[in-house]
Amino acid sequence: MSTRPRLTVIGTGYLGTTHAACMADLGFEVLGVDIDETKIARLAAGEVPFYEPELEQVLRKNLETGRLRFTTSFADVGDFGDVHFLCVGTPQRKDDYAADLSALHAAVDALAPHLSRPCLVVGKSTVPAGTAVGVAQTLRATAPAGEQVELAWSPEFLREGFAVRDTLRPDRLVFGVVSPRGETLLRAAYAPILAAGTPVVITDFATAELVKVAANAFLATKISFINAMAEVCEVTGADVTQLSEALSYDERIGGRFLHAGLGFGGGCLPKDIRAFMARAEELGVDQALSFLREVDAINLRRRARLVDLAEELAEGSFRNCRVAVLGAAFKPNSDDIRDSPALDVAATIQRRGATVWVYDPAALDNARRDYPQLSYAESAMAAAAGADLVLHLTEWAEFRTMDPAALGTVVNRRNIVDGRNALDPVRWRAAGWTYRALGRH
Ligand code: UDX
Repeated sequence: MSTRPRLTVIGTGYLGTTHAACMADLGFEVLGVDIDETKIARLAAGEVPFYEPELEQVLRKNLETGRLRFTTSFADVGDFGDVHFLCVGTPQRKDDYAADLSALHAAVDALAPHLSRPCLVVGKSTVPAGTAVGVAQTLRATAPAGEQVELAWSPEFLREGFAVRDTLRPDRLVFGVVSPRGETLLRAAYAPILAAGTPVVITDFATAELVKVAANAFLATKISFINAMAEVCEVTGADVTQLSEALSYDERIGGRFLHAGLGFGGGCLPKDIRAFMARAEELGVDQALSFLREVDAINLRRRARLVDLAEELAEGSFRNCRVAVLGAAFKPNSDDIRDSPALDVAATIQRRGATVWVYDPAALDNARRDYPQLSYAESAMAAAAGADLVLHLTEWAEFRTMDPAALGTVVNRRNIVDGRNALDPVRWRAAGWTYRALGRH
């Protein structure tokens, strides 16, 4: 095998597409595979099927060099690759909190029969502790190369909106390996990133699996901590944004993920803490993670609190009330609406009788598909036209820099709830708005 292994990426969703394009950008030959033929055709044509800054450029550039290719054939993948990255999704199961591993098992079952020479399979998907051991057994039992096929687990920590940067310059790498050979191959596959001085932690499978869920559980806890403080601020008259700033100067605490507001959503944090609790229960250590139940509850209470604040401004009833919702994505710089706090609030208010007009710079198509009961506008001004109430629910830069006086000319009443504590209350009040927010007066 050459010093530069040939890579394959199995699953071309968010993680897989970014990983494939970035690894090609680092100089590797990469083959991406997916069972979705439409998705593969679009990627091969240089089109990214979701919103992610910089990714389309990286994809196109590397398709042009020929280093990056896509296929739907697992036989091609088996032939081509020295290192195979498993990047399929592991969403929350419909009927309970646990992770749905069906896509992961299907990917391993599709790949294994085509592994007829020595290679390394690397799990990157977020999985419950104990999953990797089972995958290793399946590979050994069903791959023609048997013991020559080794498994490693190397979780991915990329954030949506920063996916390219996080993949090319991660904070750290975690290599869950069972042999020096696995470690050597993984080091070769990440050589350019390691050469840049990225720290690497070598672990066993269970630790590698846990690092990812522990990191997300910590981040979710930090957000819910400051949102719990916001609840206390609301009854004491304190200001959570000042509280957060004052806490942030303590280096032991730090200011990141200490932003109070409508709380976390997305495809990772909510489902990861739930899957973590479900796995802890199976392992008989549910008590250790019972605090995550509270983290989840605090997070969901923020949505309810925002609806209450909105109802107060609507003078007690949403009937005959026109509401403009600014933001649909679960966070700015993304078109992802999975478990979006903004759309959850919008749908609740609409159910309670309001007419809701939603605008988002990137997520309108996705929102329209999943929430057809809401109305959609093509700009913030259009959404706000005639509104009795404006809700700022996803802090896109475009909303943060909005001119309150200009918006004030199109609304029916100047009422705004800032669900992300991202607008300047002094400016909005000076322009005649009644400004309310979470955790401050
Ligand atoms: C997260 C992790 O950050 C990433 O490492 C992991 O790989 C996947 O899950 P992501 O889901 O892209 O990434 O979003 P992130 O930036 O972490 O934000 C999650 C949610 O928390 C968003 O809804 C955001 O609005 C909210 N949030 C974040 C807050 O409410 N307050 C904060 O201070 C930070």
